[in-house]
Amino acid sequence: MVSIIMGSDSDLPVMRDAAEVLTDFGIEVEVTVVSAHRTPDRLYAYAKGAAERGIQVIVAGAGGAAHLPGMVASLTPLPVIGVPIKSRNSIDGWDSVLSILQMPGGIPVATVALDGAKNAGLLAARILGAGDESIRRKVADYQESLRAAVEEKYTRLERDGWK
Ligand code: RP5
Repeated sequence: MVSIIMGSDSDLPVMRDAAEVLTDFGIEVEVTVVSAHRTPDRLYAYAKGAAERGIQVIVAGAGGAAHLPGMVASLTPLPVIGVPIKSRNSIDGWDSVLSILQMPGGIPVATVALDGAKNAGLLAARILGAGDESIRRKVADYQESLRAAVEEKYTRLERDGWK
């Protein structure tokens, strides 16, 4: 199971992309709010208990002073994927990106692009797919659908011209 957490429900319009892609792959998700700054006790209990509850990968999104993914990673041995969010308290998104990206050595957070929740979901699927052939096949099928979509585009462009 993949656990998708975010600092506030205001992050949900971005974070739902992770839930959608994982659900499309038939991977079970839980989605909830855990705030590093507003609910530190909940953050601690969540991160300490995640592995025991059967969570395999955590996707954590936050904006501004985005300490949620890094703090969760410091409290669990599970892989954590961080999603920087351009929230209303963010200056221009860089604060979110750098807060999640620049982790100290020893505590990794796999950071995706600003508002990149879709790729976070896909990366979680790939992590699970490394040990699960049916998930790996779904990831490969998805990649094939991307290839086919681009083939359709360049075929049409080359046939009809750019004008
Ligand atoms: C962060 O502050 C949250 O992750 C969110 O991105 C941002 C704003 O939160 P709200 O004020 O909308 O609750 O901790």
